Amino acid sequence: TARVENISVIGTGYLGATHAACMAELGFNVIGVDVDPEKIDSLSRGELPFHEPGLPELIRKHVDTGRLRFTTDMDQVGAWADVHFIAVGTPQVKGGTGADLRFVDAATTSLAASITKDALIVGKSTVPVGTAARLADLVQDTTQEGVQVSLAWNPEFLREGFAVEDTLRPDRLVIGTRNPGDEATLREVYAEALGRDTPFISTDFETAELVKVAANAFLATKISFINAFAEVTETVGGDITTLADAIGYDTRIGRKFLNAGVGFGGGCLPKDIRALQTRVAELGLDHSMKFLDEIDQINLRRRKKAVARAFELLDQDIVGKKIAVLGITFKPLSDDVRDSPGLDVAARLFNAGADVAVYDPEGNRNAAKRYPRLGYVNTLTEAVTGAELVILTTEWQEFRALTPADLNDLVAAKRFIDARNVLPATDWENHGWTFAQLGRKMQHSS
Ligand code: UDX
Repeated sequence: TARVENISVIGTGYLGATHAACMAELGFNVIGVDVDPEKIDSLSRGELPFHEPGLPELIRKHVDTGRLRFTTDMDQVGAWADVHFIAVGTPQVKGGTGADLRFVDAATTSLAASITKDALIVGKSTVPVGTAARLADLVQDTTQEGVQVSLAWNPEFLREGFAVEDTLRPDRLVIGTRNPGDEATLREVYAEALGRDTPFISTDFETAELVKVAANAFLATKISFINAFAEVTETVGGDITTLADAIGYDTRIGRKFLNAGVGFGGGCLPKDIRALQTRVAELGLDHSMKFLDEIDQINLRRRKKAVARAFELLDQDIVGKKIAVLGITFKPLSDDVRDSPGLDVAARLFNAGADVAVYDPEGNRNAAKRYPRLGYVNTLTEAVTGAELVILTTEWQEFRALTPADLNDLVAAKRFIDARNVLPATDWENHGWTFAQLGRKMQHSS
């Protein structure tokens, strides 16, 4: 096989921008392609439309080394790259539960039509099983005469907040291929990780597509599993965190992703479990993934529970009461508010008539686009001053470090809901706080 020197990445959102920068870091010449000229302009200046630790620096570094460029011109990469990664989004369809494949289809078609040099197209987007086989046919139909173009599938497992780290040092690499030479090409692309003995799973299209959604479904299941037990402990008594610790010591179970709280959100887990169910139902296997519907329902119930706790703590009278909501991104170290439990809780309280003061170290800007009417403030102090109730919904370090002494003199009433179970409850109770957690029975003060 020919040596891989030039790589294109189609789609420069979260996944694509990270992948492009990391490929440049590995020494390849990289061009990122996007249909959005504004995005291309700002990326070329090393500016990102989202928050991701370390990524702006990495992009600037390689825009400077000359190894990383951005363009809106597909023809430019069609004549140039040896390997093309497709990293466009597959959002949930509007008004439905399946994945919207319009961007993947459009990117693949326009790429295949523009290729004039033998190349490998590698899909990275999360897609319903069966998509790669369909796209392989599409590529064959679209490619110009005399050019050899092949398709492979290579799912991505990066976490927001750790995107660069996860891309450069993945737990494992998974590739689905149909043509013998394609594995060798991808081994060359990932030679650096393979040199560190990173597990390399070479399989067919269907397995590669399913690995990604199976991993996300498993993670979502773990979270809803512990949250279902939280529903039990908050009724009968018991401590959900101790329970998670105790089962987590069984290495077959493991402690990770067993943190009970307000549940999962973000751009991946919620939409991926819905798309998986939808796809499997299309295949006539409605029953196989039906449990994921429960996983989703348990997860959504946690948000309602957090709101119900707020009503309870305020004796059902929340109209006009100042409530500080701490954390509205779907998780710390991100400015992403897609399907965010914290933002959902804040909006529900606002709609119920509360005077909501939202503070998040990174998320206010994105949240304000979605819910412009919530009260956004720029500091923790502003949020909690005069509050009748404080709710911690995303466990940023700034909030994990809070002590009763930090808030005692600022709040109007010492009421706290720790919806992520990260603060020491007894400590707060000893300082006179009515302190609630999700997964813990309310200790009713008289
Ligand atoms: C996830 C997968 O982890 C990643 O492998 C995949 O590529 C994309 O989806 P991400 O969306 O960045 O990554 O978030 P993740 O760190 O997995 O957290 C997802 C949600 O679960 C967050 O809202 C988080 O707060 C919540 N969560 C996580 C819990 O509620 N409890 C836990 O124990 C762990």
